[in-house]
Amino acid sequence: MINFFLSLSLWKISKVLDLIKELDTNHSPAFVLLLFRRLISVKYTLGHRGVFNSCSDLPYLGAHLHWNYNTALRKVSIAYRARIGSGGWIAWATNPTGIGMVGSQALVAFHNANGSITVYPTSIKSYNPSMLPTQLSFQLSNISAEYKNNEMTIFAIIGPLQNGTMVNHVWQAGRSVSSNIPRIHSTSPPNLQSMGKLDFQSA
Ligand code: HEM
Repeated sequence: MINFFLSLSLWKISKVLDLIKELDTNHSPAFVLLLFRRLISVKYTLGHRGVFNSCSDLPYLGAHLHWNYNTALRKVSIAYRARIGSGGWIAWATNPTGIGMVGSQALVAFHNANGSITVYPTSIKSYNPSMLPTQLSFQLSNISAEYKNNEMTIFAIIGPLQNGTMVNHVWQAGRSVSSNIPRIHSTSPPNLQSMGKLDFQSA
């Protein structure tokens, strides 16, 4: 355990040194700001799930995506963390065929009727999806989830990526689950704007 924290601190120090080296050269204030933003944004997930070096604070629904991209394997290890209301669900998806909900390949998590966490992949084919577990159109492994401080985090590994590291993604949260199936989410503005583009190769 001590070794773990020691290596974490050494890793943090080396990040700061990298940053200082970068600042030595004459960069624009916007670039310097970006570097600080990147450093602050670096977060750790302790335990067997390891360290995530890249992260994006998503603009809606109190959500964050953390990831590591393995260039050699073309695999991305992701942790999607978001606020979850009691009795609600969260989901994160990439959409390999377009923009928005339809066509997206989702990972969904919620507390099931017996109180434990259910997490699985589901392919969204329409605006009235089954929300039952299905295979995705790409490879997925090591899916799991944990709940802490009113936040749910979904962990998974996706890939090998077939079409590069740039993806359209969507995320969502709903207030209700019945018969262990997530039900429709709100259609207020944040729930309709929760989508974007992401490059897994960026930090
Ligand atoms: C029970 C499951 C679901 C139902 C019934 C449902 C239904 C809908 C409907 C009817 C709309 C269009 C609303 C409008 O334009 O007024 C919509 C939009 C949207 N949904 Fe869902 N949804 C479900 C699950 C999901 C999941 C799991 C995600 C993400 C992983 C998601 C992400 C979105 C997003 C980002 C939009 C806005 C963009 C778009 O129209 O494609 N939804 N949803």
